[in-house]
Amino acid sequence: MLRNLCTGLCLGLALSPWGGSLVSAAFDASCNSNLVNYWGQNSYGAANPSDSQNWEKPLADYCRDDTTDVLVLSFLHIFNSGTDRLPGTNFANHCDVTFPGTDLLYCPDIGKDVSYCQSRGKKVLLSLGGAAGSYGFANDADAVKFASTIWNLFLGGSSDTRPFGSVQLDGIDLDIEGGSSTGYAAFVKALRNMYSKASDGKHYLVAAAPQCPYPDAYMGPLLSSSWVDMVFVQFYNNFCGVNNFPRFFNFEEWQNWADKVAVNKNVKVYLGVAGSPSAASFGYVGPDRLAEIINDSRPKYPAFGGVMIWDASQSYNNKVGGSSFAQSIKSTLRKGQKCASGTLPSDDTSSTEYPVETKTSNVPIATTTRSVPAPSTTTSDKPSVPSKTKSGSPSTPTDPSDTCVVEGSPCTNANQYTCNGYDFAQGATPLYLIDAWVKSGSSHPRERFPSIGKPHPYWSRRHRPLQQ
Ligand SMILES: *[C@@H]1O[C@H](CO)[C@@H](O)[C@H](O)[C@H]1NC(C)=O
Repeated sequence: MLRNLCTGLCLGLALSPWGGSLVSAAFDASCNSNLVNYWGQNSYGAANPSDSQNWEKPLADYCRDDTTDVLVLSFLHIFNSGTDRLPGTNFANHCDVTFPGTDLLYCPDIGKDVSYCQSRGKKVLLSLGGAAGSYGFANDADAVKFASTIWNLFLGGSSDTRPFGSVQLDGIDLDIEGGSSTGYAAFVKALRNMYSKASDGKHYLVAAAPQCPYPDAYMGPLLSSSWVDMVFVQFYNNFCGVNNFPRFFNFEEWQNWADKVAVNKNVKVYLGVAGSPSAASFGYVGPDRLAEIINDSRPKYPAFGGVMIWDASQSYNNKVGGSSFAQSIKSTLRKGQKCASGTLPSDDTSSTEYPVETKTSNVPIATTTRSVPAPSTTTSDKPSVPSKTKSGSPSTPTDPSDTCVVEGSPCTNANQYTCNGYDFAQGATPLYLIDAWVKSGSSHPRERFPSIGKPHPYWSRRHRPLQQ
């Protein structure tokens, strides 16, 4: 279905050489074959600091074919209650100019790429939060105020400090992994209220990226009281992830949430996975195994909407059997896909490469008529590529988890693995173990790793060398 593509760009689209393929590539939320990639944190670069050639590419590079349907810009990672300061963003290696006196990046190039991606029928969301950052609300009133800020800076409103110019993103994603749950339900309610009043009728989205233990520690109240279009559940870095399929894998709990709790009865649940072994602390599974898990889950769970991957830099660099992890997963999703709308998206078996547009500037990015303050180029505000805070890339241990489900018990590979009751972790050198999760009365541990986002300071606190 073609929607929302004509927000001032119709002429450019009609004349563009690649306009003819729009229908087949357009995102259809009702399908169970959608692929979502987070973009903007270059986690491959964090794991491979010297391999700058393969660092995350500009956003447009991930929009040239039918592999990814939704790009989630990460992150708007600073928003504090109690101050009137603008929020802060970090897009790793992609943008380094801030509006004067703020942590808000001014990124017209990303804005052009957003336009290009939208012209290809993709949705582009902005993710708020992340595993590293400083954010939260003191109360609902703060949250309501902040909804206006987001609307004005990134969506249908207006402001002198719009990071992507007049380009309107397609919505937001909440990846709240710290702080408290205060205000998020009010935030979404206020934001959706503005969505409904959008003068151009554009359909804006709300997504959330909870971790798989249900209910989510920070977004539980939001997810039981507010409308969301889709959830990107992080099935990695956790006992309930794909690495523990089928034993502790808990998609069923999220299907139950969709059936019995969610406000939006058509909400879609995405299988969130790591795009390579170094994209997560643990829980990566390869494309073949993931295909089995998708094939098993999708027919069972009607809310299944597709796969979310952290992140683009990893999933496109991770080549397995000649194609990237991202392409393999999309190809698996295409087989037997269904869409409630009845129209199937393109069934190209290969991810078609569209002709590279002569220049992304073919897509007009309307410059705002308001005066954009001259961006400052102070290097002190320059976000850095995430630093690597752990040694080695954890891999899925070969130790079968079935043999070790008692917290603290030794495993077959003594001194290399220690059981935390649910999973194992292994670093390269030195070896790490995961501290046992704290149990709090529920059948599942309540504490878990922050996982989407840059390598997090928690890692040093929560991992300790095995021999000490
Ligand atoms: C998954 O299912 C599709 C058909 O829907 C099939 O072609 C494919 O081989 C299956 N993959 C695995 C790993 O079972």
